[in-house]
Amino acid sequence: MIDGQRLRTKIVSTGSYLPERILTNQDLERIVDTSDQWILERTGIRERHIASDTQSVSDLAIEAARTAISRAAISVDSIDLIIVATITGDMPVPATACFLQRSIGAHNAAAFDINAACSGFLYALSVANAYILAGLYRRILVVGAETLSKFTDWEDRNTCVLFGDGAGAVIVEGVEGDNGILSIDIYSDGTMAELLHMPGGGSKHPPTSDTINNRMHYIKMKGNETFKVAVRTLEKLVTDALTKNDLTASDLALLIPHQANMRIISATAARLGVDMDKVMVNLHRCGNTSAASIAIALDEAVVAGRVKPDDIILLEAFGGGLTWASALIRW
Ligand code: COA
Repeated sequence: MIDGQRLRTKIVSTGSYLPERILTNQDLERIVDTSDQWILERTGIRERHIASDTQSVSDLAIEAARTAISRAAISVDSIDLIIVATITGDMPVPATACFLQRSIGAHNAAAFDINAACSGFLYALSVANAYILAGLYRRILVVGAETLSKFTDWEDRNTCVLFGDGAGAVIVEGVEGDNGILSIDIYSDGTMAELLHMPGGGSKHPPTSDTINNRMHYIKMKGNETFKVAVRTLEKLVTDALTKNDLTASDLALLIPHQANMRIISATAARLGVDMDKVMVNLHRCGNTSAASIAIALDEAVVAGRVKPDDIILLEAFGGGLTWASALIRW
């Protein structure tokens, strides 16, 4: 509380970027043994955007960040902190957030990355929220960005049909009043770490010709097991977020889920009793962009006029770690 007013973290602008190149299900039929019908029925994905050979993840992050900064009409010098959520950083060191800081010229900002896989954007938002509520920073740039195509095994039909590239960004600020983040919750369960992982390239399996030959530098996922845990976990996650804020599903103007699988999205909406016209879906165009997915979907919802002042919106994610997270926001 400041002068009797509650301090909240408010998203004051959004931005997103999708690479130009589009890979359709028909394109994939020519790469692996799959079909448009299988992909559509099992996932809901029709196409995904793929970064060019020369685009790294910071290039995508920069585009999304520039849009968010310009829409907020702020000086880059006023940004106190940059957090980038990604599992496909430009390189292990330094943080992708530092490349982003350099490119946009945000000289006064601290910068670091967060790895929480598909929950990464909400994890980053929760860190930003904590800094703002603690009074340490006033204005923070939060980005979710991925170039999963660079770490996808294009010989593995179980995974290569799922992922896409892209970036989303928000500027958050501490604002007094009732609008902003009402609650944000993050969770992990490392006992299921191997359900979704990239085994090679870290200190456990440093890069060698063997790790390359054994295809250990690609993302591996036990899709079916992950699917079951996701559906189970998300139901409790979204219900808990509403209950702790004395709200019900009927109060929601929009649900913005992580875009991994249409069957997971529909199941979560059905369990909540939310009509699909109140659910933001861009999975068919974007595929699963991991940490970028909610940030891109949020930006697209804002641009399309689907989020209006005072609307209650619920963001939810589930991904590798395992990790999961929710954010309830009064816009
Ligand atoms: N094309 C055609 N067939 C495919 C295929 C593809 N691209 N990928 C897998 N298959 C086959 C499998 O080999 C298997 O064949 P089999 O029965 O002969 O062994 C069959 O399809 C079923 O595979 P299964 O893994 O059980 O399918 P599924 O219904 O679980 O769907 C996913 C697979 C990956 C789409 C789904 O499990 C999923 O979305 N999982 C969760 C993803 C997620 O939420 N991740 C966390 C956040 S990123």
